[in-house]
Amino acid sequence: MTTAHSGTDMQSFPCYLVANWKMSLSTRQSLELATALMHEASMMPIPDDLHTWIAPSFLAIPDIARKVAGTRFRVGGQNLWPEQHGAYTGEVSPTQLKEMGATFVIVGHSERRSLVHEGEELIRRKVKSAITNGLACILCIGETRDERKAGKTLAVLRSQITSAVLGLSPHEVRSLLIAYEPVWAIGTGEVATTEQIAEAHTTISTIVAELTTARCPVLYGGSLKPENAPEILALPSVHGGLIGGASLQSGSYFELVRAGLAGM
Ligand code: 13P
Repeated sequence: MTTAHSGTDMQSFPCYLVANWKMSLSTRQSLELATALMHEASMMPIPDDLHTWIAPSFLAIPDIARKVAGTRFRVGGQNLWPEQHGAYTGEVSPTQLKEMGATFVIVGHSERRSLVHEGEELIRRKVKSAITNGLACILCIGETRDERKAGKTLAVLRSQITSAVLGLSPHEVRSLLIAYEPVWAIGTGEVATTEQIAEAHTTISTIVAELTTARCPVLYGGSLKPENAPEILALPSVHGGLIGGASLQSGSYFELVRAGLAGM
């Protein structure tokens, strides 16, 4: 099992800056960006407790895994199918991900929940399968604008966490990270306030502890940018970020790395 953290009660977590490149780049562009990141990293030593993870498209994983081998960067998938093999046309298994060089996977991103109607039961199976098959798992949760307006944010988070972590042992939670991504903040330029983020993150940590007796890092995602990162990444309840748009250029990604370092 790839444990991402120690999951004990007393520790503060490392900082994770996870680049989600979504379907934004060709394989060639992905490799170019990875090369630029390596170059930037060579000029700026990254401490052990700051984790730099990249989730490119499935197609670019093997090339990028080779490119970053021996560096502090880790590569992961943006999705997986919970079964190991079989008649699942178009899907990718945890073993296939690992074979390509992935060490983590993102599960339950709001784009998958809304675009391909991924439901809670499938998300739960994906989380369990990722972890039992040795991948660290970033579970994405978050409320829509309507849910926030209706005052349902904390109830939505509780329900999404409860269904996804059902059946995880405290040991398995050591491979879990949660990304709080308010749906209304993703790709919109509209960022949650530090009060909204702190409230959501504290609630998420409490719910995970209640359900599993363990803790996991909670990352923020949703229009995280160099301009807002210093304030957000300095919040004690924020253990890093899941970054879309601002991760598509090495310069802005490394500004987030510097903000992460300053907030540690
Ligand atoms: P943006 O940073 O582009 O808002 O995307 C966030 C996200 O969805 C990361 O998974």
